[in-house]
Amino acid sequence: MPCPALPDGFDFTDPDLLHHRVPLPEYAELRRAEPVRWIAQPHGLAGFDDDGYWAVTRHADVKYVSTHPELFSSYLNTAIIRFNEHIERDAIDAQRLILLNMDPPEHTRVRGIVQRVFTPRAIRALEDALRNRAHRIAQEALAQPGPFDFVTQVACELPLQAIAELIGIPQDDRAKIFDWSNKMISYDDPEYAITEEVGQESATELIAYAMNMAADRKQCPAKDIVTTLVTAEDEGSLASDEFGFFVLMLAVAGNETTRNAITHGMHAFLTHPDQWELYKRERPATAAEEIVRFATPVNSFQRTATQDTELGGQTIKKGDRVGLFYAAANHDPEVFENPDLFDITRDPNPHLGFGGGGPHFCLGKSLAVLEIDLIFNAVADALPNLRLASDPRRLRSAWINGVKELKVSAG
Ligand code: HEM
Repeated sequence: MPCPALPDGFDFTDPDLLHHRVPLPEYAELRRAEPVRWIAQPHGLAGFDDDGYWAVTRHADVKYVSTHPELFSSYLNTAIIRFNEHIERDAIDAQRLILLNMDPPEHTRVRGIVQRVFTPRAIRALEDALRNRAHRIAQEALAQPGPFDFVTQVACELPLQAIAELIGIPQDDRAKIFDWSNKMISYDDPEYAITEEVGQESATELIAYAMNMAADRKQCPAKDIVTTLVTAEDEGSLASDEFGFFVLMLAVAGNETTRNAITHGMHAFLTHPDQWELYKRERPATAAEEIVRFATPVNSFQRTATQDTELGGQTIKKGDRVGLFYAAANHDPEVFENPDLFDITRDPNPHLGFGGGGPHFCLGKSLAVLEIDLIFNAVADALPNLRLASDPRRLRSAWINGVKELKVSAG
C-alpha cells in the first residue's frame, strides 16, 4: 500500500534532512505502511545516484539484506568517499580496495587479514593508554573557564588517538593524520568550507602516507601491527596499496562514527537527567550499546541486488540499489519496547547500529564500545555537573547522523 504521509520526492539521503533532524516520524510511517519503498529521485550520496533506490526501514528486512551477500552485493556500492582522478588509479580500482565495497571471496581474504588488528587481546592492550587519555581529556575540559564545545574538547580526540594507537602512528605524525581525516569527511557541510577536492586530496595524502609506512616495514620489519599486516607469509598479507586503503577506511569508519556516538550520548544524558544520574551511580555496562542504538551515527549504507528477488512485498530487480536505514531499524517497535526511550539498562539490545550482522559487521565494534565506556566514565568522574549551554548544531551530511557543536558548561 502506498505511503500517503510521505510526499513524492521525499529522499532519506537528502543532506538537508539529516542537517536538521533524524526523520524518525517518516521512518515510523514507512515501517508501518511501506517498509520497502522506491525513492525515485535521490539527492546523490555517492552510490545513491540518479537511478533511485529502495528504502528499507524494518529491523528484520535490514538484517535479511545484510546477511544475504549473495543476493545483495556490496561491490563498489557502499562507497562513502567519492574518488576522482586525484587518486592515482582509476576510480573503480580505488573503490575496489575498500573493505566495505568488497564481496566474498575477496572480502573474506582481506577481512581475514585485517581482523588481526582487532583481536580481544589487541584491544585490551590499548585499554590503559586510552583510559589515561580519556581522563586527561576530561580534566582539560574541566579546566575550561566558561562554556565549551564538547565535540572539539572531548569527543574528537579519543577516536583518533585509538586508531593511531591501533596501527602505531608515531606521535609526531598524528596531527597531520587528524587533519586529513577531518577534511575527508566534512565536505558535505558548507560551514567547513572544504571542497570535495580538498577532501579527496586529503584522502590521497593519507593513503600515500600509509603506503610509505607499509613499504618501509617491508624493507625493515619491526615488531608492530603494520609489519604483521604487510609481511605475514603463512596467513596472507596486504599489498601496500591495500594497506593504504585500510588505513583510509579506519580514518573514516572509526573516527566520525565514534565521535558522534560520544557527542549524541552526552546530549542524550543531559536531556535525560534520570539516565545521567543512574549512569553516575551505577555505570551500567549496557550504556554504550544503548547510546549507539539511540544515536545511530551511521544512518545508512547500501547494497545492490544481484538478481531479481522479493523483499517486504516488493520485487527488487537485479541491479537495483537498496538503502539500509539503520536508524529506522533501531526504532522498530517490533523489536524494541518503547523504542524512542533512551534507557541505558536496555538488555537485550539487538540494535543494528554496527550493521545488520552479515559479513561486513563493524570490525571496530569492541574498540568503539570501549572508547564510549572510557570517555563517559572519565566525564562522570571529572564533570558530574555538566549542563547543556545550547542546542546541538548538526552536521549536513547524506549518511552520517552527526553533531558538529555541542556547547556545555562544567558547573
Ligand atoms: C563497518 C558502524 C566504529 C571499523 C561498519 C558498518 C557500520 C559501522 C554500520 C557497516 C556494517 C555493515 O555493512 O554490515 C560503526 C559505528 C561505530 C563504529 C556506529 C562507532 C560507534 C568503528 C571503529 C572502527 C570501525 C572504532 C575501527 C577503528 C569498521 C570497519 C568496517 C566497519 C573496518 C568494515 C567491515 C567490513 O566491511 O568487513 N561500522 N562503526 N568502526 N567498521 Fe565500524
